[in-house]
Order: sequence, then structure tokens, then C-alpha cells
Amino acid sequence: MTTIIDGKEIADRIRADVSDCAAHLADEGVTPGLATVLMSDDGASETYVSMKQRACEETGIEGIHRVLDPEASAETLLRQIDDFNDDPRVHGILVQMPVPDHVDSQAVLERVDPMKDVDGFHPENVGRLVTGNTRYKPCTPHGIQKLLEAADIETEGKDAVVVGRSDIVGKPMANLLVQKAPRGNATTTVCHSRTDDLAEKTRTADIVIAAAGVPEMITGDMLSEGCTVIDVGVNRVDAETEKGYELVGDVAFESASEKADVITPVPGGVGPMTIAMLMYNTVKAASLQSG
Ligand code: GUN
Repeated sequence: MTTIIDGKEIADRIRADVSDCAAHLADEGVTPGLATVLMSDDGASETYVSMKQRACEETGIEGIHRVLDPEASAETLLRQIDDFNDDPRVHGILVQMPVPDHVDSQAVLERVDPMKDVDGFHPENVGRLVTGNTRYKPCTPHGIQKLLEAADIETEGKDAVVVGRSDIVGKPMANLLVQKAPRGNATTTVCHSRTDDLAEKTRTADIVIAAAGVPEMITGDMLSEGCTVIDVGVNRVDAETEKGYELVGDVAFESASEKADVITPVPGGVGPMTIAMLMYNTVKAASLQSG
């Protein structure tokens, strides 16, 4: 029997704990605040940010949302970040990625006060993660660690293959997996679009984490019997639905679940965890800044 991990249920449990912490902080006069900035008219980005704002409301976090014209200057975005850096109501700042091409994304990430960088994307926080002195774990990889923990999947000594090398998921995920820490201590391989024989790598893996953004690229024949498969993909593919598209993961769920012992669905797997861990980091940020 294949176990399908219910990310929604696990995320709800984490969000309940986060709500308790937020209420505790509020009793002490500190309402955690998360500022989000959207500088894009991409529908998926709009949806993600509105889900993050709704999660704030539901968790007792003050959500402050700014939408900037995608044509606005980089300076406008940097000034908005400066305002949030200086605003004591704001403990966490999230600039939804990607930003438009005319904006230097690295300059944006570096402008966020590292103490308010609840994404964990600032070079200072990336450095801390790599050296095992973590402040804020990036939300999606952290959420995956929580899913593995909830499903009782041990990583120590296991072969893990991460497919995808993005700064948001692939690289931080690999860093967490090799750390000397719970849900770390794995022998980790990072594969990407230039990997010669991907199937050869994934077939040796006890744990496959698919985060390449390519619909259904990981199929059952690429997996070993009894493995764990975590699907980070959220791809919109054309379909005759009301919205004109459907969401498809990076994993071909049906064939993969014939091989895997444990698998995450799309939607309802990793997605809800990303938001839960963002709320977690925001409350942590409020606690660090008020303590
Ligand atoms: N775009 C896709 N995922 C993320 C994320 O976790 N944080 C931000 N800021 N942008 C994203």
C-alpha cells in the first residue's frame, strides 16, 4: 500500500501551533506582522500572495500587502523594502519572486533586513544555512523536512536525489539534507537540466525530491521500489476546466505511486507546508525582534 502524505493536515497542525505562539506574543504586546510585496501580474504569483495574506489573517498575524506596478522602477521596489525595514509593525518581509527582468533580484534580496528575511534568501541567511547556524530555513525545504518527519521517513544514511537547483528550493533543500541534524545526514545528489542520465540517478535514490518545474517529468520507471517521492512542482497545464488549466506536479503521480511507498500529491502535498512554514518564520521573526 502506498502512503499518500496529507500535507494539508500536517500544515493545519503547524498553523495551529503558530496561532498559539502568535496569541502568546500578542498577550505580551507584540502582534507579529508580515509584509508582502507583489511586483508582477502573473496569475500564479497573485494567487500565492493572496494565499499567504489569508493565512496571516487565520493565524493572528498582521498582514500588510503592497502591489507594485510591474513597470515601476527597481528604485520604487527598493524604497518599499526600506520602508518595511524601518517599520516596527513589520517583523517579516516577503517579496514574491520572480520580480520583472529589469529589476536585479539579487539586489532586492540583499536589501531586506536579514532579521526580517522570513524567506531565508538574504546572503547572510543563506550563509548561516550552509554553515548549519540557521536563522530562517527557507519555507519550502523546511516544509518538506516537516512532511518527512510527520511520515516518519528517516533521512540519515539514505540516498537522496534533489531534482532542480533553484535558490528557492533545490539548493537549500540539498543543504538541509546534508546537515548534521534531524532529517539531514543524507547522502545527497543534486540533479538539473544538464544532468546526463537523470533516471540512472533517481533509480538509486531512497528519497526523490522533484523541484524542476517540468510537468510529470519523474515517471515510475525512474524510481526504485519502496522509495519516498516528494513533489514540489506546481505546473499550470492547459485543460478544459473552468479556469482553463489544471495543476500538475513534477511527478507522474499514477506511475510513480506504483513504485513509491510514500508520495505527496499535487495539490495538497508540499504547497500548504510552504505557507505554514512562512507563518512559522514570521512568528519566529517577531519573537527574535521583540526578545
Ligand atoms: N516564488 C516561489 N516561491 C517563493 C517563495 O517561497 N518565496 C518568495 N518570496 N517567492 C517565491
